[in-house]
Amino acid sequence: MTVRIAPSVLSADFTRLGEEIAMLDAGGADWIHVDVMDGRFVPNLSFGVKMIEAARRSSRRVVDVHLMVLEPERYFDDYAKAGADVLTIHVEAAPHLDRQLTRIKELGCKAGIALNPATPVSVIEEVAHLLDLVCLMSVNPGYGGQKFIEYSVDKIARTRLLLDQAGSDAVLEVDGGISRDTIHRCWAAGADTFVAGNAIFGATDPQAEIAVLRGLCVEQA
Ligand code: DX5
Ligand code: ZN
Repeated sequence: MTVRIAPSVLSADFTRLGEEIAMLDAGGADWIHVDVMDGRFVPNLSFGVKMIEAARRSSRRVVDVHLMVLEPERYFDDYAKAGADVLTIHVEAAPHLDRQLTRIKELGCKAGIALNPATPVSVIEEVAHLLDLVCLMSVNPGYGGQKFIEYSVDKIARTRLLLDQAGSDAVLEVDGGISRDTIHRCWAAGADTFVAGNAIFGATDPQAEIAVLRGLCVEQA
């Protein structure tokens, strides 16, 4: 089964950004996760188009852009041009999902939707056929380094079931509080792609940590 580790550059050392991203690339990261926050949808501000360009320049990996912003459609063209491979919008911030997912695909990107912890999985039912990715938030979005919300595990299992029943091969990503303690349960429940910020950048050897996290995604006796 596929396992993708997607380090979040939100936890990187911004004084050495290019080096940090190149380090992830060389260290076996599958995707580079870029968290865009607008200070409105979430209570924090992060970065925008320049960071996507930096990730594109410093890495050959998939640039996975997580838009925690209101009116995300305002940014699609610029972010696609900057080199985003995946554009993920929050269902809570995007009332016109059909139009917006279609537009993302027209721009040549993979289209994802993210769900806050309190948002029911059923919101993806009607658009499952349009989705390249579902991102389940396992913390309340806005900050790195938060505690994993335990009830996310059951939600992953129900999302996996829904995607399978819809015949969808969308990526099932989990974002927030992923660590040595939580990754295996998320993988066993059916997630295949794991965003990790603090766990990787807080490790003494971030590259080794990517391998450790990947290695935990196996059946344990
Ligand atoms: C949270 C972001 C996450 C965050 C993950 O709002 O979407 O991607 O960077 O960080 P950790 O792994 O530290 O919870
Ligand atoms: Zn994220």
